[in-house]
Amino acid sequence: MELNPFAVITGASRGIGAEYARVLGSHGYDLLLVSRDEARLTHLSRELQTNHHVHAHVFIGDLAQPDIAHQLFVESRRYRPTPDLLINNAGFGLYGAFASHPLPRIQEMLHVHVQTVVESIRLFLPGMIERGSGTIINVTSIAGLLPIPYFAEYAATKAFLLSFSEALAEEVESTGVYVQACCPGSTDTDFHETAKFRPSSPMGRQSVTQVVKASLSALQTRQPVVTVGWQGKLAVLLAKWVPRKTLVTTIGKRFRPPTQ
Ligand SMILES: NC(=O)c1ccc[n+]([C@@H]2O[C@H](COP(=O)([O-])OP(=O)(O)OC[C@H]3O[C@@H](n4cnc5c(N)ncnc54)[C@H](OP(=O)(O)O)[C@@H]3O)[C@@H](O)[C@H]2O)c1
Repeated sequence: MELNPFAVITGASRGIGAEYARVLGSHGYDLLLVSRDEARLTHLSRELQTNHHVHAHVFIGDLAQPDIAHQLFVESRRYRPTPDLLINNAGFGLYGAFASHPLPRIQEMLHVHVQTVVESIRLFLPGMIERGSGTIINVTSIAGLLPIPYFAEYAATKAFLLSFSEALAEEVESTGVYVQACCPGSTDTDFHETAKFRPSSPMGRQSVTQVVKASLSALQTRQPVVTVGWQGKLAVLLAKWVPRKTLVTTIGKRFRPPTQ
């Protein structure tokens, strides 16, 4: 009997990751859902098994811990030798002056956004290359296109992920493996609350539906970089045409916290 396609999704408990899980479940994917929140993952897993009759396994883990990528790889191999789709989506923002951010929180971000993603890809990619197929989606951000004062390390880690994804996409293009950097703009999730960022108006936020639709539609066209809606188009234009210093100063004024 032919098995369903299989996707590993990090940060699947909420927001964009949960939407990837729901859409892929509805398309008949078996899933491995990853986050720290056992209650939410178990609830989502039951929902997907009931609604779509797919297997939705859960892996409870903190992606900021050393060796977690290896543990995830081992767990994934319990279900399939190699997933068809790996979505590195887990992440969080940290708003405010860099010098005021707690060092452990910065270390956590570097680990979740950079170290664990790179290690996971290094572990999962050879199996995809050997099989001649597979997709890796790295959820970065339009923040990866622009330096953002007061979101400095967030934007920088997302820039790393964007650059890494584009380079890797080129390296593996002829192998049958597709690597995508998905760059959402401001999206309606718990992200802003976790980051302690309260924009004056939440107007113009994208929905998780828009983000995931844009990302999964690009599986057909195999674009290496996917932006979403007008925010994505604007960020690309600004990064291309506005002098860097002008851009950083203007964004800095826009994002400066009221007390700075
Ligand atoms: N929302 C936006 O405006 C926006 C814009 C551009 C890009 N993005 C990116 O989109 C991705 C998803 O964010 P979201 O908007 O959906 O935010 P969200 O609703 O806050 O979801 C974040 C997800 O990441 C997981 N996560 C965070 N730290 C983790 C850790 N140490 N270990 C395991 N899982 C961890 C969370 O899981 P648990 O807390 O359950 O462990 C949760 O599932 C992030 O990479 C974010 O940077 C978001």
